[in-house]
Amino acid sequence: MLYEDFERAFEARLQTRADAYVNAVEYHRVRFVQTIQYLLRSILEQTDNLIKQSDADWARTEEVVSDILYCADVDVEQLLALEIPNELTADRDFEAVKTKLYETKYYPVSEHLNYMSFPPALERKAFIGKHFNRFREDSYFCDLGFGPGVLTAFILQQDASWRAAGVDISKDCLRHAERLLEKKEVSGRSELSVADVRSLPYPDDTFDVVVAVEVLEHIPDPEIGLAEAMRVLKPGGYAITALPVQLPLLMHLHDFDTPDEVLGLYKKVGLEVIDFEAKEFQRQSGTFVDTFALSVNP
Ligand SMILES: C[S@@+](CC[C@H](N)C(=O)[O-])C[C@H]1O[C@@H](n2cnc3c(N)ncnc32)[C@H](O)[C@@H]1O
Repeated sequence: MLYEDFERAFEARLQTRADAYVNAVEYHRVRFVQTIQYLLRSILEQTDNLIKQSDADWARTEEVVSDILYCADVDVEQLLALEIPNELTADRDFEAVKTKLYETKYYPVSEHLNYMSFPPALERKAFIGKHFNRFREDSYFCDLGFGPGVLTAFILQQDASWRAAGVDISKDCLRHAERLLEKKEVSGRSELSVADVRSLPYPDDTFDVVVAVEVLEHIPDPEIGLAEAMRVLKPGGYAITALPVQLPLLMHLHDFDTPDEVLGLYKKVGLEVIDFEAKEFQRQSGTFVDTFALSVNP
């Protein structure tokens, strides 16, 4: 089975469960287990279909799996036995999401797994890649809500003169991301820490670029987080942001209903949008839109 077919089948199966979309953790759990099972089945069986995948796809899968095993410091059996949080219930509450989901070893692993073939995650990388020409020699960028650290590492790998800082609210993400940067041999050019995007530990006008990809919807007040990002961004600096629309998961504490609402937020904090993409992705209860933006702090 090709990965795309697997994803489609997964979504179709999940649709038969009325509660799965509302309960984000259940969604994560099912997706994680089934993705791992798919992966192992594929590896073990070495099916004809797998061999038909392009070399590049297969190499990426292998790399992501080996990165995950290294960063989580587990072997395959431990990965499969990883405890998946199941205490998060209906309240969309920041402290609850933080302690019951982000602060688990499982969370960065699950987010990292998305970079195997999950279309919206691959799109995030592609959008950032499209705008590497905005980074100058010696650029200093900040990754807000770096999660597993995949994007931080990806950017740092492009140019040996670039340096990174970053924050995430989760200690488990910090540990995972630091190991990834070390594995990719870019840790000497980065300094990550645990902090809240709403109160950044940096002086005004520090960065040439800020990256806030799929993080501002995780706080109830995205405008406060984005205003903080603007504070630490130099005048003339760039912001690369991604925000989902109509994706009311439990860990999303602010819902954007339309791409125009996202654009309105950028305008409100004074960002000038240069490139904006709104792409539809198929999910289990229909489509959702992911938006990607490059903006300048005028
Ligand atoms: C969906 S992940 C995105 C990770 C990464 N940017 C990426 O695209 O791969 C969201 C991340 O935001 C972090 N986060 C949530 N609320 C936060 C806050 N208030 N301050 C800093 N990080 C936060 C979570 O811990 C999580 O790692």
